[in-house]
Formats: sequence, structure tokens, C-alpha cells
Amino acid sequence: MHVVRPKDPVVGRVVASQPCLNGRSASFVRHVAIDVSGTDLAGSFRVGQAFGVIPPGEDHRGKPHSVRLYSLACPSHGEDGEGNVLSTTVKRVIDEYTPQEHDEEQDAHHLFVGVCSNYLCDLKIGDEVLVSGPAGKRFLLPADPSRHDYLFISTGTGIAPYYGMIRELLQGPEGTCSSRIELVAGAPYTTDLIYDDVFQELAAAHDNFTYHPVVSRSDIRREYVDRYIERNLDDSFRDFLEDPRTLIYMCGLEGMESGLYRVLARHGLSDGYMDVREPLTLEGHESWETADMKRNVKAGPRCLVEVY
Ligand code: A2P
Repeated sequence: MHVVRPKDPVVGRVVASQPCLNGRSASFVRHVAIDVSGTDLAGSFRVGQAFGVIPPGEDHRGKPHSVRLYSLACPSHGEDGEGNVLSTTVKRVIDEYTPQEHDEEQDAHHLFVGVCSNYLCDLKIGDEVLVSGPAGKRFLLPADPSRHDYLFISTGTGIAPYYGMIRELLQGPEGTCSSRIELVAGAPYTTDLIYDDVFQELAAAHDNFTYHPVVSRSDIRREYVDRYIERNLDDSFRDFLEDPRTLIYMCGLEGMESGLYRVLARHGLSDGYMDVREPLTLEGHESWETADMKRNVKAGPRCLVEVY
């Protein structure tokens, strides 16, 4: 970790920038690839980690912008197979401003444009960008990936690390891993499913990989990822979750974590995936409040979590 510090970043160069949504979405999400060859970052990152981007300019206090972390979306061997090109999945943050402090005008609601996401999405091929990293030491693939099976769960851009992990498992330099891989990816509408075409193709080509897109605002079915897993427990997920080989990865919105823990507790599947601390008890799961869960229900050794 921290081979390159944000205070002393290296210069990368954008080598690709493509939209990664298929249909006409109201969101803008790009796959941005950055060449870091010749720098200390080259070859020193692992899928599941993040890297830093230092946007140019100053914040509202007149200080240089601080580093922003982005999940790697590439395998550990990079987009180029040599560890020289890293990538990430960036969603443009475009919103109405919400007052952050008491002394601000409380009625302020002008357009808010996220500094770093829009900077990264605006960059063109050949542009330079200051990068640091890598960061993160837990949300990683195991040392011997073939000894495990994987339930990858995401909401929104939380899919970024899985784009790297699944390509690493299925198409990595070690050959094709035969582990069972299930990807449950949540998005508001089908047009917001990120890397959808690539995952469809990978699923068609690999019997051990299943892709489950889940949409929360469709007219046909509105569902969150945890409810989708619960509804399909007996068809697909129960035996899989009971198998001691299985690891659960969660990446995306915080609410997904407590949602999934409730499903696991309700169906007697918590073993190894979650630790329940006093005053909460597993038996009392029906009366768990979300705020108490945050303090007292933690990921177990078979559950890897990256939520925000
Ligand atoms: P919704 O916004 O319809 O409530 P994005 O980052 O592109 O907005 O996607 C995030 C997805 O995760 C949306 O489909 C969102 O649904 C969904 N979502 C929001 N809260 C939760 C939660 N607590 N558990 C699971 N999914 C959630």
C-alpha cells in the first residue's frame, strides 16, 4: 500500500475513456484507463484496491484539492496485461447543492458539479493526470482463488472492482478459474447497468459465471439486491451460501450491507459471514434496528465489504 503518496504523486496518461452504459441513461458513467508505466505505481496494485487522483485547482477555502480515491476496475495485471495501465469506473456527480454547514444560506440549491468525477470524465486521451496509491488491504481476492467460490454483490459503481476481479478469475494469466462466480448487480434502471454487455458475454462464454442484473425502478419488478437473493434463495443461492468455499463480497451503498445481513439472519445462513455482538443476538434479528446493526453486526471472515 501507499507506494506513491498523494503529497508526491506520479504523472499518468489517459489511454482510454469510454462510456460504460448501454442505453439512454440519465447518468454518465465512464471507464477511464490511465497508463502509469515507468512510475512506482506500475505493477504494484492489486484488484480490489483503490488509487488516488489529485484534481488540479483549489477548493472553496483556497487550498489545493485533496486526493480522491477510486476503485480499480482492472485486474491486478492491468488493462494491458503488464500492470502498466490501471482503470476505474467514474460516475459524473451532478446534483442540486445541499447546504453542508449551519452558517451557509440554507435555501441554496444551485447546480452542484462534483470536482473530481467530472475532471476525470472530461479528460481526453493523452491528457496527464496526477495519481497515487494503491490503497486498501482487505477487499482483495484470496491468495489461491481456486479454493473459493464467489458471490459478488454491488449497487451502482460498486461494480468497479468486480469488473477487474471477474476478468482476472476468468481470463487471467493463470488461465480460467473454475470456481463458481455469481454477480448480483443493482442499478435503478436497465439503462444504468454498468458493463452490462461485457458481463452478458462473459456469462455466455463461461458456465461457472452467472450474471444477475437487478433493477430497483423498473415498471415490471422493483427490487434491491438483498431482496433478489432472498427471493431466489431456494433456486440458486441457499446451497451456495451454505458451502464453506463461498465468500461474499459487497461493494456499493451502505444500506446493502444491513439488508443482506438481515436476509442471512432470517434464513439461518449467517455462519462465517457475520458476527453479532451484544446487546444484539442472532435470535432477536427481527427486532434489529439499522443504527444498532451498524455498531454490533460486523462482517465475518467470509464476507468482504466496501460500502460508502
Ligand atoms: P433506488 O435509488 O431506486 O432506491 P446508482 O448508484 O446508480 O444510483 O445505483 C444504486 C442502486 O442501489 C439503485 O438501484 C438504488 O435504488 C439501490 N439502492 C439504494 N438503497 C439500497 C439499499 N439499502 N440496498 C440495496 N440497494 C439499494
